Amino acid sequence: MTSKLPEVKTTIFTVMGKLAKEYSAINLSQGFPDFDADPKLIELVTKAMKNGYNQYAPMQGIIELREQIAKKFDDLYNVTYNPETEITITAGATQAIFTIISTFIHQDDEVIIFKPAYDCYEPAIELNKGKSILIQLEAPNYNVDWNKVKQHINSKTKMIIINTPHNPSGSVWSKQDMNQLEALVKDTNIIILSDEVYEHIIFDEQLHQSVCMFPHLKERSFVVASFGKTFHTTGWKMGYCAAPSKFMHEFRKVHQFNVFCANHPMQIAFAEYLKNPNTYLNINSLYQEKRDFFLDAIKDSRFKFIPSIGTYFQLLDYSVISNENDIEFAQKLVKEYRLAAIPISVFNSNQIDNNMLRFCFAKKKETLKRAAEILCEI
Ligand SMILES: Cc1ncc(COP(=O)(O)O)c(C=O)c1O
Repeated sequence: MTSKLPEVKTTIFTVMGKLAKEYSAINLSQGFPDFDADPKLIELVTKAMKNGYNQYAPMQGIIELREQIAKKFDDLYNVTYNPETEITITAGATQAIFTIISTFIHQDDEVIIFKPAYDCYEPAIELNKGKSILIQLEAPNYNVDWNKVKQHINSKTKMIIINTPHNPSGSVWSKQDMNQLEALVKDTNIIILSDEVYEHIIFDEQLHQSVCMFPHLKERSFVVASFGKTFHTTGWKMGYCAAPSKFMHEFRKVHQFNVFCANHPMQIAFAEYLKNPNTYLNINSLYQEKRDFFLDAIKDSRFKFIPSIGTYFQLLDYSVISNENDIEFAQKLVKEYRLAAIPISVFNSNQIDNNMLRFCFAKKKETLKRAAEILCEI
């Protein structure tokens, strides 16, 4: 048998998750909350199930939810998406990303990816016989060198994948970054896949720069969002994407044979839940408080850090403590100190190792406190 993904091994999330269990460690590795979703949201799903919404939803998602999403785009970013033709509900952001790539990438098409990157982009490109063009961002700030990006754009460039707020670095793109991107792609046919799953988790008064706010980007972009990340329901695998109708028309051709539709009772619930904008507008302060609590608790440790500006991840630099590589150090942390984190080299080009680990702070205060106590001991 010839593998279609010969380089893909068990992901680091599975490895660290398993080790965390084995060693009864505090698990700050994978990106999910250890607290529950709003009971009201759970009640709404239960109600929808009891009311009989247990069969297939429409392929593109229920219109009531797409209308709420269109309203959210309008309220937050002052942009219009037609809910009939430009918004589709998906089984999480991952499915949207996979389907977008499958819809547009042909053999030998080039897709620019900024590293470190979330791990689902490259396998999807490879399965579609495209070519990932990797641009490494430099630690510790992970700023984009736009001259470098310019040098990598050519007639084969079909897509650029961007992600702000950025997993794993916790950096966010500025308005100037978006302007630079806009200027570079303006006279091309390049499609932008904008992974904005952390749009509501951004700190210190920074504003999320969605591609949809920049007209020459909006006209060529997919915005990808995740209800899992925003509403502490990662296990529900619910999300959506928005794009101009000519792109969404092609997307739906693939989507209908990929999953056909996303979970019906949850769509009914989210359509109701989203009517109250505080449900997503309050997420920033919830996570900013957690970030500040965690960073204050480790301020006297030997780890170095730049506070995360978005996402629920914090990078910690352990170079003062050890010169082991980050995978070894992460393993030592879980086996000897019972604390699990993710080594950043797995997200980088050529596994570049900057002695950084990623910690997820989407956790209860008591979990963060215990983790911080361990970090201060090392
Ligand atoms: C940057 C990024 N994109 C996409 C996803 C996947 O989102 P979902 O769980 O909705 O598929 C994640 C989850 O960790 C992520 O960090």
